[in-house]
Amino acid sequence: MKVAFFDTKQYDVEPFRICGEKAGIEFKFYEPKLTADTAGLAAGYDGVCVFVNDTVDAEVIDILYNEGVRFIALRCAGYNNVDVRYAFGKLHVMHVPAYSPYAVAEHAMAMLLTSIRRIHKAYIRTRDFNFSLSGLTGFDLHGKTVGVVGTGRIGRVFIDICRGFGMNVIAYDKFPAKDAGIDYVDLHELYAKSDIISFHCPLTDETRHMINKDTINELKRGVVIINTSRGALIDAEALLAGIKSRIVGAACLDVYEEESDIFFEDYSGHIVDDDTLARLISMPNVIVTSHQAFLTTEALHNIAETTTENIVTFASRGTCDNELCYHCGNTETCKKQRLERCF
Ligand code: NAI
Repeated sequence: MKVAFFDTKQYDVEPFRICGEKAGIEFKFYEPKLTADTAGLAAGYDGVCVFVNDTVDAEVIDILYNEGVRFIALRCAGYNNVDVRYAFGKLHVMHVPAYSPYAVAEHAMAMLLTSIRRIHKAYIRTRDFNFSLSGLTGFDLHGKTVGVVGTGRIGRVFIDICRGFGMNVIAYDKFPAKDAGIDYVDLHELYAKSDIISFHCPLTDETRHMINKDTINELKRGVVIINTSRGALIDAEALLAGIKSRIVGAACLDVYEEESDIFFEDYSGHIVDDDTLARLISMPNVIVTSHQAFLTTEALHNIAETTTENIVTFASRGTCDNELCYHCGNTETCKKQRLERCF
C-alpha cells in the first residue's frame, strides 16, 4: 500500500513512519499542500493522506481519480475541506473522528486563562525585568457563565474542565445529548447570558458565520469568545467590529477563516497581506494560535495510529468504520449502518 502524504510537517513524520512500517504502508512525505497544482504528485499511489488545509474539491478529486488514487485518508476529524458528495463513487474518504478531545479542550482553557489573566503580557514584561502589575487585572472564572456551542467529544471535555473551575455551564447543540446532565438553552439565550462562549461544533452551511454582524449584537457586553473549532464559524470582520464597539471583551482564536494559506507556516520577516488578521492580532485583547489545539504528543500518536488502521482496514475489508460519505447520518440511505460498502 503506497500513500502520498501532503502538507507534511516535521512533527508528522516520526509517528507516521513508525505506524506505517508496522502496518506495511509506505508513506511518501510531500511538503506542499494538496491542490489542483500538486495533485499529480499522487500518480501511482493507492491513496492520499491529507490535513485540514489541503484542498479536496471536485477538480482535485477528478485529478486524483484519473491518476488511480482510490482513497483519501484524512488525518483529522473535521472534513469541511472535502467535497464528500463529489467524491462519492470515486474516492473513499476516511477520517480520524477522535484522537484527543483533551488536547483541544485543554488548549481552549489555556487560551482563556492566558487571555483573562494576561499571562501573555506578564510573560513578556518579566523577561524585560518589568515587574509592574498595571493593566494586568483579570477576573475570576468561578461563578461565571460559560456557553458551550457543540457538546460532542471536545465540548463535553471542555464542560468538565469548566465545572472544575466552578463555572456555571449552559450549552447549545443542534442534537442535544439525552441524559448528559447538560443545561441546554437555545442559541439566543446562550448568546445573551454567557460571559464566555466556546465553539466546539463542526463547520457546516448552517454554522458558517454563526457569529456575524447581527448575532454580535445579541452577546453580553464584555463576552470572551473562544474558537478552537473552525475559523469560518466567525465572520472575522464582524468580530473586529464587536471588539471595537467593546461588546466583545476578548477573543481567543486557534482557527481563522482565511487561515489556509497562512497558518502552519513561518511568515516572520514577511509582510502578510491579510489585513483582517493583522488588525485582529494588533488588538490587545485578541490571542491567536495557529491551529495548534490538536498538537500534543498523545494526539499525534493517536492520529497516526487511527489513520494507518483506517487504511489497513479499508485495504483488507473494502470498508472502514471511519469512512465518510454524504449519506452519513441518514438512517434511510446510509449503507455503512447496514454494514455494507458505501459504494
Ligand atoms: P463531535 O462530532 O464529537 O461534536 C460536534 C458536536 O457539534 C456534536 O454534538 C453535534 O451534534 C454538534 N453540532 C452539529 N451541528 C451543529 C450545529 N448546527 N449547531 C450546534 N452544534 C452542532 O466533534 P468534536 O470531536 O467534538 O470536534 C468539534 C470540532 O472541533 C470539529 O468539528 C473540528 O472542526 C474542531 N477541531 C479542531 C481542532 C483544532 O486543532 N483546533 C482539532 C480537532 C477538532
